[in-house]
Amino acid sequence: MFNPSEKPWIKPNAASTDRIIEQVKKCPSGALSYYMNNQKENNKETSAESIVEVVPKGPLLVYGNITVKATDGSEHHKNKVTAFCRCGASLNKPYCDGTHTKIDFKG
Ligand code: FES
Repeated sequence: MFNPSEKPWIKPNAASTDRIIEQVKKCPSGALSYYMNNQKENNKETSAESIVEVVPKGPLLVYGNITVKATDGSEHHKNKVTAFCRCGASLNKPYCDGTHTKIDFKG
């Protein structure tokens, strides 16, 4: 279902809904999220309080329920942990995609 070396790298039809949800819940950065077609909002599981953590040589982590408004006007609801790029090299901005390790980001 997830293969980063392919485009698109997510093939939701390759696994059951339960298996996809299980994998999304294991996502350490919170970059992956899901919603059920019969629900308006994403799966909200954390408290309303948000915590922001700057990771040395890495992303900015935001813990909690947040809404990210994209430049195209779309909104993305995130929960648990969301990793934002601080190095400027992510190919999935504003989110961290791990590229900071490849460029040896110092910050
Ligand atoms: S901080 Fe991770 S890709 Fe930029």
